[in-house]
Amino acid sequence: MGLACARRMAPTVATIVLVDRDESNLEAVASELEHHAQVVPMTADVSDPEAMAALAAHVATGSFRAVAHAAGVSPTMASWRDIVRVDLVGTACIIDALSPLVAAGTAAVCFSSMSAQLLGLGGVDPVVEGALDDPLRPTFLDDLRQVAGPAIEDSGMAYAWAKRGVQRLVQRVAVEWGRRGGRICSISPGMIDTPQGRQEAAAQPVMAMMLERTPLGREGTADEIAAVVSFLLSDEASFVTGTDLLVDGGVCAAMEDMS
Ligand SMILES: NC(=O)c1ccc[n+]([C@@H]2O[C@H](COP(=O)([O-])OP(=O)(O)OC[C@H]3O[C@@H](n4cnc5c(N)ncnc54)[C@H](O)[C@@H]3O)[C@@H](O)[C@H]2O)c1
Repeated sequence: MGLACARRMAPTVATIVLVDRDESNLEAVASELEHHAQVVPMTADVSDPEAMAALAAHVATGSFRAVAHAAGVSPTMASWRDIVRVDLVGTACIIDALSPLVAAGTAAVCFSSMSAQLLGLGGVDPVVEGALDDPLRPTFLDDLRQVAGPAIEDSGMAYAWAKRGVQRLVQRVAVEWGRRGGRICSISPGMIDTPQGRQEAAAQPVMAMMLERTPLGREGTADEIAAVVSFLLSDEASFVTGTDLLVDGGVCAAMEDMS
């Protein structure tokens, strides 16, 4: 989905900085996009504060117009700690590093997930929610484990909580960025046909049931998500900030109807 976002963004900007921890992904994308804009590939882990400081230093050489932050890992890809570290702490790292550069017209979209929505169906423990709100604290992962208990060691739960944390982060940051004319939202994709989506669908039988219940009767595409991100980053969305947009083909509505 990050690639689909970059494809839509490249023709609208002078310079696009691509970040991925996988260098081979970057090379292929950079050569595809370089006839649209100056492309700066950066191999980096989004949860590494030093790497994100280097990213911000580079962005500061120009002006910070927009970020689509789609890097992430899903339940079958990592341990619970790595899921929370990449998906929530990583989001906090990149937003923290870029925040000083926000000016009027800057916009950001962070990737949450419909998992955060589905977590809400069972009722969300407000104490665990509160524990999500300081992801850059050095003891954050241990503190979260303490508050959430062993349930968070289930990688699916960790993913849902991490994505819930992304939604809450966006709400907090929107208040600060808004004073400078900047906007930040999150997007919650449903089942999307990407390498990550395919890996989850193959490993989790529940996904087939959810697909069957999706009102639009299919998975979404990366480009459908990028179209919504592109809207949120554009001036067309100039009064939209601090909120999450669920883009799931209606599956959460169908699941809520069942519960
Ligand atoms: N595919 C889905 O069905 C789905 C559904 C809901 C939410 N999401 C979320 O949307 C986002 C994009 O998902 P996708 O399906 O395009 O995933 P993907 O696995 O296809 O691509 C993710 C990219 O992020 C990179 N990445 C992973 N960890 C990183 C790190 N620590 N630092 C830098 N780069 C890193 C990977 O190398 C990869 O290129 C993710 O946050 C994911 O959790 C996906």
